[in-house]
Amino acid sequence: MANSTELPNRPRPHLKVSRNANGADVVIAGLVEGSQGPLIQGLAPRVVKEAEERFGATLAEVAVRAGGKTKLGSTVVLPWSGNSLVLVGCGAEGGDDENLRKAVGAGARTAASLAHETSLKVAVDMGITSPQQVRIAAEGALLGCYKVPAITANPDTLEVSTVTIVSNARGAKPELEKARILADAVYTARDWVDAPANVLYPKTFAASARSWCKDLEDVTVDVLDEKDLVRSGFGGILAVGGGSAHSPRLVRVEYAPRGATTTLALVGKGITFDSGGLNIKTADGMYTMKSDMGGAAAVLAAVGAVARLGLNVRVIAYGCMAENMPSGSAWRPSDVVTIYGGKTVENGNSDAEGRIVMADGLARACEDEPDYLVDISTLTGACMVALGNHTAGVMTSSAQAADTLLDASEAAGEDFWELPVRDEFREQLHSDIADVKSTGAREGGAILAAAFLQNFVTPGTEWAHLDIAGPAFNEGKPHDYTPIQGTGFGVRTLVQLAANLAD
Ligand code: BES
Ligand code: MN
Ligand code: ZN
Repeated sequence: MANSTELPNRPRPHLKVSRNANGADVVIAGLVEGSQGPLIQGLAPRVVKEAEERFGATLAEVAVRAGGKTKLGSTVVLPWSGNSLVLVGCGAEGGDDENLRKAVGAGARTAASLAHETSLKVAVDMGITSPQQVRIAAEGALLGCYKVPAITANPDTLEVSTVTIVSNARGAKPELEKARILADAVYTARDWVDAPANVLYPKTFAASARSWCKDLEDVTVDVLDEKDLVRSGFGGILAVGGGSAHSPRLVRVEYAPRGATTTLALVGKGITFDSGGLNIKTADGMYTMKSDMGGAAAVLAAVGAVARLGLNVRVIAYGCMAENMPSGSAWRPSDVVTIYGGKTVENGNSDAEGRIVMADGLARACEDEPDYLVDISTLTGACMVALGNHTAGVMTSSAQAADTLLDASEAAGEDFWELPVRDEFREQLHSDIADVKSTGAREGGAILAAAFLQNFVTPGTEWAHLDIAGPAFNEGKPHDYTPIQGTGFGVRTLVQLAANLAD
């Protein structure tokens, strides 16, 4: 396993839409807070009536007695004509799309946990009437039944083999296909983040990205290895990767459908393990650092989804891949590094490695002259301190660039919050020996990193800088459709952004 070049390709649940839940092992329905108390959402009236005759009470009453609540995402399991009924809290009546996605996700997670050695067929019967709702429910269901791929002597079976969305909506098939493609991309990003750093390192990550994009129409993949990086002057990625036995890579994936008039460039941080380098981290701080490539995972997964969806927009994704290790060949604090394009950086702290590889990526991406540029990374602990674990930071070149990003993230159901980049931060990055220094004071650390990266973005470019240090990796309990470990955060926003920019 340790030296395999490709990650295991795990099967995904099969997805369909149907008018009824016949044949399902587990049915998921909702429990909403109506004006008179809890109400069942979904399930055919005939079916509810049958159950009520059997239980001798309304189904909502039975659910509440069994511990069911209308609180969003809480679940209770009832026996259901030989199988199981999962009732999931949906909050108040008339919730929004993200409410539905979360509720279905929580239900699917509970349903998946009922599997014992055999795979289950799961139906979502929540009163879904429009094609749009079919897509949202399917996204929630697929995202919710994801399981961390264990590396084990006893490979486990798929917990959920089939997800059926129960609906009479006409024209739901294309929406279902969109959900399948999007969820597949989120699964892929999660798989990459979950893979430990002895399995996923720059070479294997690049190979796996290549295989994810294999045979896609209008897609070209370029992998720059160490020699290529030296030849082209990617001094940032080389410096950060120099301390590791695993050499760095820059992966460029371009999707260029004929006729597209808009170019979106995406740059992702792909530190496959961040030990801190010579500014070594504490044991606790290092433990989760296999996840420090979540940004590269998001951009590479997203470009694959955009190509599969066939969106009419040119998307170019860069994965800046390196392992940050301490060794005799490691880059040192006070080293001066030459970034792609020639600007020099004084290394203030070898644990501030993300911004160095991202500087190379951004400088290269600007050569593509994108109409919109996004970078995404697990960049600063400071962003987690500011916004917590569920919200990403966004810093942009203009108010318009912020609106563009926030419109996409809202539609996608991922939470971002804008942080202001004021002039005081730019002034802090003075170096006596190089064009710019990589670090400054502790205060406003997330913003300082954005101010640093702005040096490598061509002025006038519409640019959004995303710091996903908090939401990329779930160290706590699973919730809604979010599993433990890699969350795939960012994929949905980037795909939605591409859709919004497409002709
Ligand atoms: N990868 C870390 C940021 C991080 C920390 C992400 C915890 C997720 C969870 C990044 O490379 C880092 O170490 N940043 C330093 C920067 C500092 C040295 C200026 C930090 O945040 O402490
Ligand atoms: Mn670091
Ligand atoms: Zn890092």
